[in-house]
Amino acid sequence: MLRQRKVESNDHAEPADDHGTSNTRESRPRTRRTARSSNRLLNCLWSGFLCFLTIVALLCAFLLTFYALIDGPINAVYFSLPDPPAWNGPLEQNDLLTKTERLFDKRIQGPESQALRNGKLYTSTMDGQILELDPDTQAILREFRLRDKPSITCNGSYDSFPVCGRPLGIRFAKDEDTTLIVIDAYFGIYEVDISTGSSSLLLPTGSRVSDGPPLNYPNDFDVTDDGVIIFSESSTKWDDRRHLYSVLENSGDGRYYLHGAKRGTFDVFADNIPGYPDNIRLARNGSLWVPIAAVRTADDNLLAQMPKLRTLLTKLIPVTSLPWFFEKITAPYGLVLLLNQKGEVEASLHDVAGTTVPYTTQVTEAEDGQLYLGSDAGYFIGRLKR
Ligand SMILES: *[C@@H]1O[C@H](CO)[C@@H](O)[C@H](O)[C@H]1NC(C)=O
Ligand SMILES: *[C@@H]1O[C@H](CO)[C@@H](O)[C@H](O)[C@H]1NC(C)=O
Repeated sequence: MLRQRKVESNDHAEPADDHGTSNTRESRPRTRRTARSSNRLLNCLWSGFLCFLTIVALLCAFLLTFYALIDGPINAVYFSLPDPPAWNGPLEQNDLLTKTERLFDKRIQGPESQALRNGKLYTSTMDGQILELDPDTQAILREFRLRDKPSITCNGSYDSFPVCGRPLGIRFAKDEDTTLIVIDAYFGIYEVDISTGSSSLLLPTGSRVSDGPPLNYPNDFDVTDDGVIIFSESSTKWDDRRHLYSVLENSGDGRYYLHGAKRGTFDVFADNIPGYPDNIRLARNGSLWVPIAAVRTADDNLLAQMPKLRTLLTKLIPVTSLPWFFEKITAPYGLVLLLNQKGEVEASLHDVAGTTVPYTTQVTEAEDGQLYLGSDAGYFIGRLKR
């Protein structure tokens, strides 16, 4: 009964409505009807356009507010770079690096730094090890760790680094065959006896070596003739796995430790080189091998001058994906410079397409003049016969 009644009342309502509207429509002349519907169409288009404009304006306002209020993990600082130098003179492009032979290909992870002793090659890898290698047979002879092997998998993942360590710069102590000095980005500075594999800690991270914040991210070093270790610290704020935060922030929070009369001073040795250098090593004739970890691009100055954009990047992209992101937006380009003692470029080795050597973090010259090339993100050690 109830249902039937409801249907009935609907039946009543609908014809009444129909009747009303059709009556008004029928009474209007046909031309006016067309004009009215084209008016309606215009109105509709116009309001659609207004609507579109409003949405765009709101979006812009939102983005501008967002942009103005960006508060990412970093406090990016404005800086400005000169135009990169042209590829001419000693910087003229060539294919010398493409002749590099890949040793231990895909058998080692991120060999950042190398040292040579008695025909053996030592390297520091992403999984927290120092490897002893035979470059001729390509055998991995021994593996050392600075601390006992942790229970987690040391595979160079973001979480594994602080636990497994990340050895960066390595060098033999002057006139010594067995003492290898190693800087680990998380643990500090060690001495490793390569005859036994035992290591001793010289300076742990967290130590206070000057008035500033405690040692946070040591990176590379050298040893003076009287045995003093001079080392650099990339950032007092970020650790090695967040080094791109430090690069994007550019607040100048890195340090170096210089001993003696020139303590606290610095000179610019080479200005406006065509990329971002890493571990510097002496060539046999006293010149310097300067590996370029990333070549300057035409538009990196734009990014330099837009600190908010850099902050925005760190807000939008998780820190674990930043290396991947920068790899995607930059073209690989292998470059090694040879600088003389005055800081002038004497020669350069290129792999313009980066197919053989996409980037390098160290060049080590052997006594026979061969060059060994390391890379913190690559999976081989390069050998270039000259
Ligand atoms: C490293 O090991 C961890 C734990 O076993 C694993 O979850 C992670 O996927 C590995 N990462 C890489 C890059 O292999
Ligand atoms: C050092 O050797 C390199 C080749 O290995 C050469 O290009 C450069 O001119 C030499 N520098 C000096 C100062 O002799």
